[in-house]
Amino acid sequence: MVQPETTSPGALMAAEIAEQPEAWARLLADGRAAVEDAARQVRRRSPRFVLLVARGTSDHAALYAKYLVEVRLGLPAGLGSPSTMTAYGSRPDLRDVLLIGVSQSGGSPDLVRSLEVGRAQGALTVAVTNSPGSPLDEVAELGIPVLAGPERSVAATKSYTAELLTLYLLVEALRGTEAEPVHRLPDWGAEVLALEPTVAGAATRYRYAQRMVVTGRGYAYPTAREAALKLMETCYLSAHAFSGADLLHGPFAMIDPQVPVLTVAPEGVAGQALAPVHAQLARTGADVLTVGSRAAAAQATVGLALPANIPEALSPILEIVPFQQLALHLARLRGTNPDHPRNLHKVTETH
Ligand code: F6R
Repeated sequence: MVQPETTSPGALMAAEIAEQPEAWARLLADGRAAVEDAARQVRRRSPRFVLLVARGTSDHAALYAKYLVEVRLGLPAGLGSPSTMTAYGSRPDLRDVLLIGVSQSGGSPDLVRSLEVGRAQGALTVAVTNSPGSPLDEVAELGIPVLAGPERSVAATKSYTAELLTLYLLVEALRGTEAEPVHRLPDWGAEVLALEPTVAGAATRYRYAQRMVVTGRGYAYPTAREAALKLMETCYLSAHAFSGADLLHGPFAMIDPQVPVLTVAPEGVAGQALAPVHAQLARTGADVLTVGSRAAAAQATVGLALPANIPEALSPILEIVPFQQLALHLARLRGTNPDHPRNLHKVTETH
Protein backbone atom coordinates (compact mmCIF):
# COMPACT_ATOMS: atom_id res chain seq x y z
CA MET A 1 0.00 0.00 0.00
CA VAL A 2 1.28 3.49 -0.80
CA GLN A 3 2.11 5.42 2.35
CA PRO A 4 0.34 8.81 2.62
CA GLU A 5 3.63 10.72 2.78
CA THR A 6 4.66 9.57 -0.69
CA THR A 7 1.39 10.69 -2.26
CA SER A 8 1.52 14.32 -1.24
CA PRO A 9 4.76 16.26 -0.70
CA GLY A 10 4.73 17.90 2.70
CA ALA A 11 1.74 15.91 3.99
CA LEU A 12 3.61 14.95 7.15
CA MET A 13 4.90 18.45 7.79
CA ALA A 14 1.43 19.92 7.20
CA ALA A 15 -0.13 17.47 9.66
CA GLU A 16 2.54 18.13 12.28
CA ILE A 17 2.22 21.90 11.94
CA ALA A 18 -1.54 21.56 12.44
CA GLU A 19 -1.09 19.29 15.45
CA GLN A 20 0.78 21.87 17.49
CA PRO A 21 -2.05 23.29 19.62
CA GLU A 22 -2.97 19.73 20.57
CA ALA A 23 0.64 18.94 21.48
CA TRP A 24 0.83 22.06 23.69
CA ALA A 25 -2.44 21.14 25.41
CA ARG A 26 -1.06 17.66 26.11
CA LEU A 27 2.13 19.09 27.54
CA LEU A 28 0.20 21.51 29.75
CA ALA A 29 -2.01 18.69 31.01
CA ASP A 30 0.51 15.85 31.38
CA GLY A 31 3.96 17.40 31.38
CA ARG A 32 3.96 19.62 34.42
CA ALA A 33 4.79 16.96 36.99
CA ALA A 34 8.15 16.17 35.35
CA VAL A 35 8.92 19.87 34.97
CA GLU A 36 8.12 20.61 38.60
CA ASP A 37 10.05 17.63 39.85
CA ALA A 38 13.11 18.73 37.87
CA ALA A 39 12.69 22.33 39.07
CA ARG A 40 12.65 21.16 42.72
CA GLN A 41 15.91 19.31 42.25
CA VAL A 42 17.51 22.19 40.36
CA ARG A 43 16.55 24.66 43.10
CA ARG A 44 18.17 22.41 45.70
CA ARG A 45 21.48 22.75 43.86
CA SER A 46 21.19 26.57 43.38
CA PRO A 47 23.15 26.74 40.11
CA ARG A 48 25.03 29.95 39.37
CA PHE A 49 25.13 29.51 35.59
CA VAL A 50 23.04 27.79 32.94
CA LEU A 51 24.69 26.18 29.94
CA LEU A 52 22.62 24.76 27.09
CA VAL A 53 23.78 22.31 24.43
CA ALA A 54 21.77 21.49 21.30
CA ARG A 55 21.95 21.40 17.52
CA GLY A 56 19.88 22.84 14.69
CA THR A 57 16.26 23.48 15.52
CA SER A 58 16.79 22.42 19.12
CA ASP A 59 19.61 24.95 19.36
CA HIS A 60 17.06 27.65 18.58
CA ALA A 61 14.89 26.40 21.44
CA ALA A 62 18.01 26.55 23.63
CA LEU A 63 18.60 30.15 22.51
CA TYR A 64 15.06 31.05 23.60
CA ALA A 65 15.77 29.46 26.98
CA LYS A 66 18.98 31.49 27.25
CA TYR A 67 16.96 34.71 26.95
CA LEU A 68 14.42 33.49 29.51
CA VAL A 69 17.10 32.45 32.00
CA GLU A 70 18.95 35.75 31.69
CA VAL A 71 15.84 37.93 31.82
CA ARG A 72 13.69 36.00 34.28
CA LEU A 73 16.09 34.08 36.50
CA GLY A 74 18.78 36.75 36.51
CA LEU A 75 21.41 34.09 35.91
CA PRO A 76 24.07 34.16 33.23
CA ALA A 77 23.40 31.64 30.50
CA GLY A 78 25.25 30.44 27.44
CA LEU A 79 25.13 28.04 24.53
CA GLY A 80 27.83 25.42 24.90
CA SER A 81 29.99 24.22 22.03
CA PRO A 82 29.88 20.42 22.22
CA SER A 83 33.09 20.07 20.18
CA THR A 84 35.16 21.58 23.00
CA MET A 85 34.31 18.54 25.13
CA THR A 86 34.29 15.99 22.28
CA ALA A 87 36.79 16.89 19.55
CA TYR A 88 39.06 19.02 21.78
CA GLY A 89 38.64 16.85 24.86
CA SER A 90 38.35 19.80 27.28
CA ARG A 91 37.20 19.15 30.84
CA PRO A 92 35.84 22.49 32.12
CA ASP A 93 35.04 23.02 35.79
CA LEU A 94 31.23 22.85 35.76
CA ARG A 95 30.48 22.94 39.47
CA ASP A 96 27.44 25.20 40.14
CA VAL A 97 26.39 24.87 36.49
CA LEU A 98 23.02 23.66 35.30
CA LEU A 99 23.72 21.92 31.97
CA ILE A 100 20.62 21.42 29.81
CA GLY A 101 20.69 19.29 26.67
CA VAL A 102 17.83 20.00 24.27
CA SER A 103 17.09 17.47 21.54
CA GLN A 104 14.10 15.97 19.76
CA SER A 105 15.78 12.61 19.31
CA GLY A 106 18.22 12.57 22.20
CA GLY A 107 20.45 10.69 19.81
CA SER A 108 23.33 12.86 18.64
CA PRO A 109 26.57 11.47 20.12
CA ASP A 110 28.13 14.90 20.72
CA LEU A 111 25.22 16.01 22.91
CA VAL A 112 25.25 12.74 24.80
CA ARG A 113 29.00 13.05 25.40
CA SER A 114 28.63 16.71 26.48
CA LEU A 115 26.17 15.74 29.17
CA GLU A 116 28.29 12.78 30.21
CA VAL A 117 31.39 14.95 30.54
CA GLY A 118 29.36 17.77 32.11
CA ARG A 119 28.01 15.45 34.76
CA ALA A 120 31.48 14.11 35.55
CA GLN A 121 32.72 17.70 35.81
CA GLY A 122 30.16 18.63 38.45
CA ALA A 123 27.22 20.04 36.48
CA LEU A 124 23.63 19.15 37.24
CA THR A 125 22.47 17.69 33.94
CA VAL A 126 18.96 17.84 32.47
CA ALA A 127 17.75 16.34 29.18
CA VAL A 128 14.80 18.04 27.50
CA THR A 129 13.82 15.62 24.74
CA ASN A 130 10.99 14.21 22.69
CA SER A 131 12.50 10.75 23.22
CA PRO A 132 12.32 9.46 26.77
CA GLY A 133 14.76 6.58 27.19
CA SER A 134 17.07 7.97 24.46
CA PRO A 135 20.84 8.03 25.09
CA LEU A 136 20.68 11.72 26.09
CA ASP A 137 17.85 11.07 28.49
CA GLU A 138 19.71 8.10 29.98
CA VAL A 139 22.93 9.98 30.56
CA ALA A 140 21.31 13.01 32.24
CA GLU A 141 20.45 13.12 35.93
CA LEU A 142 17.04 14.60 35.19
CA GLY A 143 14.84 14.10 32.14
CA ILE A 144 11.93 16.22 30.98
CA PRO A 145 9.86 14.88 28.05
CA VAL A 146 8.33 17.45 25.70
CA LEU A 147 5.47 15.09 24.77
CA ALA A 148 5.17 16.19 21.13
CA GLY A 149 4.48 12.62 19.99
CA PRO A 150 6.29 10.94 17.08
CA GLU A 151 7.50 13.42 14.48
CA ARG A 152 7.93 11.93 11.01
CA SER A 153 8.66 14.89 8.79
CA VAL A 154 12.39 15.55 8.63
CA ALA A 155 11.67 19.27 9.03
CA ALA A 156 10.93 19.62 12.75
CA THR A 157 7.89 21.67 13.71
CA LYS A 158 5.84 20.42 16.65
CA SER A 159 8.90 19.15 18.52
CA TYR A 160 10.37 22.68 18.31
CA THR A 161 7.39 24.47 19.81
CA ALA A 162 7.02 21.70 22.43
CA GLU A 163 10.66 22.26 23.39
CA LEU A 164 10.00 26.00 23.68
CA LEU A 165 6.97 25.46 25.89
CA THR A 166 8.80 22.93 28.09
CA LEU A 167 11.70 25.34 28.59
CA TYR A 168 9.26 28.15 29.38
CA LEU A 169 7.53 25.96 31.98
CA LEU A 170 10.88 24.97 33.48
CA VAL A 171 12.03 28.57 33.88
CA GLU A 172 8.70 29.57 35.39
CA ALA A 173 8.78 26.57 37.76
CA LEU A 174 12.26 27.66 38.85
CA ARG A 175 10.91 31.15 39.55
CA GLY A 176 7.95 29.70 41.41
CA THR A 177 5.45 31.68 39.36
CA GLU A 178 3.78 31.64 35.96
CA ALA A 179 3.51 35.13 34.59
CA GLU A 180 1.51 34.38 31.44
CA PRO A 181 -1.91 32.74 30.86
CA VAL A 182 -0.21 29.78 29.26
CA HIS A 183 -3.48 27.78 29.12
CA ARG A 184 -4.58 30.09 26.30
CA LEU A 185 -1.81 28.91 23.97
CA PRO A 186 -3.84 26.18 22.20
CA ASP A 187 -6.59 28.67 21.33
CA TRP A 188 -4.10 31.26 20.17
CA GLY A 189 -2.41 28.50 18.16
CA ALA A 190 -5.68 27.73 16.38
CA GLU A 191 -6.00 31.42 15.46
CA VAL A 192 -2.46 31.52 14.11
CA LEU A 193 -3.00 28.34 12.07
CA ALA A 194 -5.94 30.09 10.41
CA LEU A 195 -3.47 32.47 8.75
CA GLU A 196 -2.58 29.64 6.37
CA PRO A 197 -4.48 30.86 3.25
CA THR A 198 -2.74 34.25 3.53
CA VAL A 199 0.63 32.54 4.04
CA ALA A 200 0.01 30.28 1.03
CA GLY A 201 -0.74 33.38 -1.08
CA ALA A 202 2.40 35.10 0.19
CA ALA A 203 4.52 32.07 -0.71
CA THR A 204 3.92 32.69 -4.45
CA ARG A 205 5.76 35.99 -4.07
CA TYR A 206 8.97 34.19 -3.11
CA ARG A 207 8.77 31.35 -5.57
CA TYR A 208 12.00 32.29 -7.34
CA ALA A 209 13.87 33.89 -4.43
CA GLN A 210 17.43 32.65 -4.05
CA ARG A 211 18.35 34.64 -0.94
CA MET A 212 16.44 35.89 2.06
CA VAL A 213 17.33 37.71 5.25
CA VAL A 214 15.45 36.98 8.46
CA THR A 215 15.64 39.16 11.53
CA GLY A 216 14.23 39.63 15.02
CA ARG A 217 15.44 40.74 18.43
CA GLY A 218 15.28 39.46 21.98
CA TYR A 219 12.89 36.56 22.44
CA ALA A 220 12.04 36.84 18.73
CA TYR A 221 15.62 36.27 17.56
CA PRO A 222 15.39 32.46 17.97
CA THR A 223 12.30 32.61 15.74
CA ALA A 224 14.31 34.35 13.03
CA ARG A 225 17.01 31.67 13.28
CA GLU A 226 14.48 28.85 13.15
CA ALA A 227 12.54 30.42 10.25
CA ALA A 228 15.77 30.68 8.26
CA LEU A 229 16.64 27.04 8.97
CA LYS A 230 13.17 25.85 7.92
CA LEU A 231 13.45 27.78 4.63
CA MET A 232 16.95 26.50 3.92
CA GLU A 233 16.20 22.84 4.55
CA THR A 234 12.83 22.70 2.80
CA CYS A 235 13.26 25.22 -0.04
CA TYR A 236 17.03 25.02 -0.63
CA LEU A 237 17.39 28.78 -0.63
CA SER A 238 20.01 30.76 1.21
CA ALA A 239 18.38 32.40 4.25
CA HIS A 240 20.55 34.34 6.65
CA ALA A 241 19.28 35.14 10.12
CA PHE A 242 20.60 38.03 12.16
CA SER A 243 19.56 39.74 15.33
CA GLY A 244 18.16 43.12 14.32
CA ALA A 245 21.11 44.76 16.07
CA ASP A 246 23.72 42.69 14.26
CA LEU A 247 21.97 43.26 10.93
CA LEU A 248 22.68 46.98 11.24
CA HIS A 249 26.34 46.33 12.01
CA GLY A 250 27.30 45.36 8.47
CA PRO A 251 25.07 42.72 6.82
CA PHE A 252 22.44 45.37 6.04
CA ALA A 253 24.61 46.38 3.08
CA MET A 254 23.55 43.26 1.17
CA ILE A 255 19.85 44.23 1.27
CA ASP A 256 18.23 45.55 -1.87
CA PRO A 257 14.67 45.22 -3.25
CA GLN A 258 15.62 41.82 -4.73
CA VAL A 259 16.38 40.27 -1.33
CA PRO A 260 13.16 39.63 0.60
CA VAL A 261 13.46 40.38 4.30
CA LEU A 262 11.38 38.47 6.83
CA THR A 263 10.97 40.19 10.19
CA VAL A 264 9.61 38.98 13.52
CA ALA A 265 8.07 41.90 15.38
CA PRO A 266 5.75 40.80 18.20
CA GLU A 267 4.15 43.08 20.74
CA GLY A 268 6.52 44.16 23.48
CA VAL A 269 10.23 44.87 23.76
CA ALA A 270 11.35 42.66 20.86
CA GLY A 271 9.02 44.38 18.39
CA GLN A 272 9.90 47.86 19.65
CA ALA A 273 13.61 47.09 19.42
CA LEU A 274 13.16 46.24 15.74
CA ALA A 275 11.76 49.70 14.89
CA PRO A 276 15.12 51.14 13.68
CA VAL A 277 15.55 48.11 11.40
CA HIS A 278 12.07 48.55 9.93
CA ALA A 279 12.78 52.26 9.38
CA GLN A 280 16.01 51.48 7.53
CA LEU A 281 14.30 48.74 5.51
CA ALA A 282 11.63 51.25 4.45
CA ARG A 283 14.32 53.71 3.30
CA THR A 284 15.96 50.93 1.25
CA GLY A 285 12.70 50.00 -0.47
CA ALA A 286 13.10 46.41 0.72
CA ASP A 287 10.39 43.79 0.28
CA VAL A 288 9.40 42.98 3.87
CA LEU A 289 7.25 40.18 5.25
CA THR A 290 6.46 40.71 8.92
CA VAL A 291 5.01 38.26 11.44
CA GLY A 292 4.04 40.10 14.59
CA SER A 293 1.82 42.75 16.08
CA ARG A 294 -0.98 44.30 14.08
CA ALA A 295 0.88 47.61 13.97
CA ALA A 296 4.09 46.07 12.66
CA ALA A 297 2.26 43.84 10.17
CA ALA A 298 0.38 46.87 8.79
CA GLN A 299 3.68 48.52 7.78
CA ALA A 300 5.00 45.51 5.85
CA THR A 301 4.75 44.53 2.18
CA VAL A 302 3.19 41.30 3.46
CA GLY A 303 1.85 41.45 7.02
CA LEU A 304 0.88 38.41 9.07
CA ALA A 305 -0.67 39.68 12.30
CA LEU A 306 -0.68 37.52 15.41
CA PRO A 307 -3.70 37.65 17.75
CA ALA A 308 -3.76 40.77 19.93
CA ASN A 309 -2.17 40.86 23.39
CA ILE A 310 0.05 37.80 23.11
CA PRO A 311 2.52 38.01 26.02
CA GLU A 312 5.98 38.46 24.58
CA ALA A 313 7.57 35.52 26.40
CA LEU A 314 5.03 33.13 24.84
CA SER A 315 5.08 34.73 21.41
CA PRO A 316 7.95 32.58 20.02
CA ILE A 317 5.77 29.48 20.43
CA LEU A 318 3.19 31.08 18.12
CA GLU A 319 5.15 33.33 15.80
CA ILE A 320 7.16 30.47 14.24
CA VAL A 321 3.96 28.83 12.97
CA PRO A 322 3.41 31.13 9.93
CA PHE A 323 7.07 30.64 8.99
CA GLN A 324 6.62 26.86 9.16
CA GLN A 325 3.61 27.25 6.86
CA LEU A 326 5.60 29.52 4.56
CA ALA A 327 8.40 26.93 4.29
CA LEU A 328 5.86 24.20 3.55
CA HIS A 329 4.00 26.14 0.83
CA LEU A 330 7.12 27.58 -0.74
CA ALA A 331 8.72 24.12 -0.88
CA ARG A 332 5.66 22.74 -2.64
CA LEU A 333 5.67 25.62 -5.14
CA ARG A 334 9.34 24.99 -5.84
CA GLY A 335 8.74 21.30 -6.38
CA THR A 336 10.56 19.99 -3.31
CA ASN A 337 9.23 17.65 -0.63
CA PRO A 338 9.76 19.16 2.83
CA ASP A 339 9.07 15.80 4.47
CA HIS A 340 12.21 14.41 2.88
CA PRO A 341 14.71 17.18 2.08
CA ARG A 342 17.61 15.99 -0.04
CA ASN A 343 20.74 14.86 1.81
CA LEU A 344 19.06 14.84 5.23
CA HIS A 345 17.87 12.19 7.67
CA LYS A 346 15.60 12.64 10.66
CA VAL A 347 18.39 12.04 13.15
CA THR A 348 21.71 13.69 12.40
CA GLU A 349 24.64 12.20 14.26
CA THR A 350 27.50 14.58 14.90
CA HIS A 351 30.58 14.03 17.07
C1 F6R B 1 15.64 20.71 11.45
C2 F6R B 1 15.99 19.67 12.40
C3 F6R B 1 17.40 19.59 12.85
C4 F6R B 1 17.50 19.01 14.25
C5 F6R B 1 18.95 18.77 14.62
C6 F6R B 1 19.09 18.33 16.06
O1 F6R B 1 14.28 20.71 11.14
O2 F6R B 1 15.18 18.87 12.79
O3 F6R B 1 18.05 20.83 12.79
O4 F6R B 1 16.91 19.88 15.16
O5 F6R B 1 19.49 17.79 13.77
O6 F6R B 1 18.40 17.14 16.25
P1 F6R B 1 17.93 16.71 17.67
O7 F6R B 1 16.97 17.76 18.15
O8 F6R B 1 17.29 15.38 17.47
O9 F6R B 1 19.15 16.66 18.54
